[in-house]
Order: sequence, then C-alpha cells, then structure tokens
Amino acid sequence: MQKYHNTEDKILESWVVNAQNWIETIEQGAIASRQLVTNQAIIDAVKQTNITTALDVGCGEGWLTRALNQAAIRTTGIDAVESLIQSAAQKGSGEYFVLSYQDLTAAEVPLKEKYEGAVINFALIGKESTEELLKALPRFLTARGRVIIQTLHPWAVIEHDSYESGWREGSWVGLPAAFVQPYQWYFRTLGDWVGLLHQAGFRVESVLEPLHPLTAKPASLILIGEVA
Ligand SMILES: C[S@@+](CC[C@H](N)C(=O)[O-])C[C@H]1O[C@@H](n2cnc3c(N)ncnc32)[C@H](O)[C@@H]1O
Repeated sequence: MQKYHNTEDKILESWVVNAQNWIETIEQGAIASRQLVTNQAIIDAVKQTNITTALDVGCGEGWLTRALNQAAIRTTGIDAVESLIQSAAQKGSGEYFVLSYQDLTAAEVPLKEKYEGAVINFALIGKESTEELLKALPRFLTARGRVIIQTLHPWAVIEHDSYESGWREGSWVGLPAAFVQPYQWYFRTLGDWVGLLHQAGFRVESVLEPLHPLTAKPASLILIGEVA
C-alpha cells in the first residue's frame, strides 16, 4: 500500500475501530439527513446518468451497492475495511472487494472490468488519498465513464469557519452510537472540488445541491463528472 501522511492513516484506523458502530447506525437509519434527503439524492443522481454498471467506492456496509443492484445497475462495492465488506457481502448479492483507495493506484487490482460509473458517497475524506484516487479512477471506467460524488456541502462550514480548503478537526457529534477516535478531514471549497475533478481528467457535467426539506439549506453537494 502506498504510504501517505499520518493524518491519512488515522482516517482508516478510525474506520476500522468504528466499523460495528457504523453498521448499526446505517441499519437503524439513525442519520436523519440520509433518510430525508441524501440517500435518495445519490440514487437519483446515479440514475440520471443512465449508467448500467458501477463501482461503489468506499461502499461501507454496502447499502448503496444493494440499492443500485436493485435498480438494475450492476454494482461492485469496494472498501478498505474488511469487517464492513464482510457485512456487505452477508447482506446481499453483489460483488465486493477489500480494497483501499491507495490499492487502486497500484498496478494490479482484482477489478477485471471497466465500469460505466464510479459512485462515491460521503467517502472522500483525506487530501492526497482523494487526489490520487480520482486520478486513478479513469483507468477503471469506460470511455466517457462517469464519477458521481456526494459530499458535505462546502457552505455548511461558513457560519463558524473560514471558507478555505484545508484540514479540519473532526468529531462524531450527532451520531447515536459510541464512535471513538475522531479524525481530521480535508475541507474543500466548491471551486477546489471542481478544480480537483478537472485535474483528475473529468469534465464537470452537473453540480447538484439537494435541499434539506426542513431547513431549505443544502443537505449535500453532488458532482457528476465525465471522463474527458
Ligand atoms: C461515511 S462512510 C460512507 C460509506 C458508504 N459510502 C455510505 O454511503 O454509507 C466512509 C467510508 O469510506 C471508507 N474509506 C475511507 N477512506 C478510505 C480509503 N482510503 N480506502 C477505502 N475506503 C476508505 C471507510 O472505510 C468508510 O466505509
């Protein structure tokens, strides 16, 4: 595995430790914004591209892989955390691999086909790991393949923080289970997200901002890119 900055390693260490908390959180539907808005928003965004095969990158316990397979989009899930992939494989049909983003940048990976799209739902957390992953992705995509990314809306921070890309302290505030080992995450402005996709070889096709029905504020940012 490629060696990254220590901050990047801590992200994955935290996900290994919190895997069971995450599985329970998703099984209980305990994140209101996901139930109200963002789960359906990412499914709709993927459907809008008309892709028929997908790679679910950082799939966690696999809810989106299962949802896309049920929508006749044949989807493979990958995640670095073995216990999350085991949970995904137990829950449903579908193909899953334990693979980190760092692994995808290596020469040999067990993914034998090219997918029409890669979907990444709230799973781009670090700096270098995200940059390297996005640059590597076109190798796994068909000509004019898509990347569909859902992430925190950048404007979510501006009430209490500066609007500049950079590492931020993380926390698990708001989640019901006893999550531990919060990690730093890399915040990007909207302009930097768009620039990142361009640098990785994607043309930005859509920028979507699903609204939270109770606050009328953006619940997330969805970017759709096409291999240029
Ligand atoms: C917030 S969860 C989202 C999981 C899933 N996409 C969903 O929507 O429920 C973030 C996921 O990213 C995965 N992840 C983070 N960094 C990763 C890396 N470098 N390689 C592979 N997976 C990673 C974690 O293991 C975790 O499953």
